[in-house]
Amino acid sequence: MSDPQALPLIETIAVEKRYGDHTILRGVTLDVRAGETVALIGPSGGGKSTFLRCLNGLTPFEAGTIRVGNETLPPGPETPAHRAVHARVRRFIGMVFQDFQLFPHLTALGNVAEAPRTVLGLPAREAEGQARDLLAKVGLADRAGHLPAQLSGGQKQRVAIARALAMRPKALLCDEVTSALDPELKHEVLNVLEQLQEEGLTLIMVTHEIGFARRAADRVFVLADGKVVESGPAQQLIDQPQVERTQKFLRSVLG
Ligand SMILES: Nc1ncnc2c1ncn2[C@@H]1O[C@H](COP(=O)(O)OP(=O)(O)OP(=O)(O)O)[C@@H](O)[C@H]1O
Ligand SMILES: [Mg+2]
Repeated sequence: MSDPQALPLIETIAVEKRYGDHTILRGVTLDVRAGETVALIGPSGGGKSTFLRCLNGLTPFEAGTIRVGNETLPPGPETPAHRAVHARVRRFIGMVFQDFQLFPHLTALGNVAEAPRTVLGLPAREAEGQARDLLAKVGLADRAGHLPAQLSGGQKQRVAIARALAMRPKALLCDEVTSALDPELKHEVLNVLEQLQEEGLTLIMVTHEIGFARRAADRVFVLADGKVVESGPAQQLIDQPQVERTQKFLRSVLG
């Protein structure tokens, strides 16, 4: 799907992130091409979630560069001068979390229609029409009126994906979106992601589903101790990891 010659859609160079004295990211460099699916794997605490949060401007970073489309996020806290850049980056890339983070008091339809109405200023009727289309796309046309508490985990996660898509992002960041789900429900969510991938959406997925990463990702990056220790084509990297840290990690998760 992706054009290897094209300028990457997303590029990070030597990104460093600290919390107090604790260095979390020690120079993370990676690139993601438009239409590509990239899986980010690695040991717990390696900085995967932190990196995703830096990538869409939710968390400041201390050094390095993050470019998303035509926007460059500068290091340092979000200043008034850079607020518009952060806002555009957050629009550009959607994010879906392990614990869904739906608005509990809004129906599935309300969750999906909310931001287009309040942030993009779409008229209510248009936002709801789009929300119905997106719920149908993720297989939930008949659940539009349900509150999150009345939905299964897999259904909640599909509402969360529809909600992210409602902002028409160029890329979707997924942070362990299936790890809170039973095996059966995982498939519902992974199938939706594969459908989006086929439609050309750029996906960056933090995942512990190594089988899914091997099958669905174009490339895999292994993040450990705040650095990319290895990257490469998904099947090649998972079947024949070259770096000892990757080998050790894959042994521990694959048993
Ligand atoms: N807000 C925070 N304040 C201080 N330290 C934090 C904060 N968020 C994360 N950390 C620390 O940063 C490190 C990386 O955490 P992160 O959540 O990015 O790891 P991860 O690779 O996503 O792990 P997991 O696979 O368990 O989700 C951890 O040591 C964590 O304790
Ligand atoms: Mg994490």
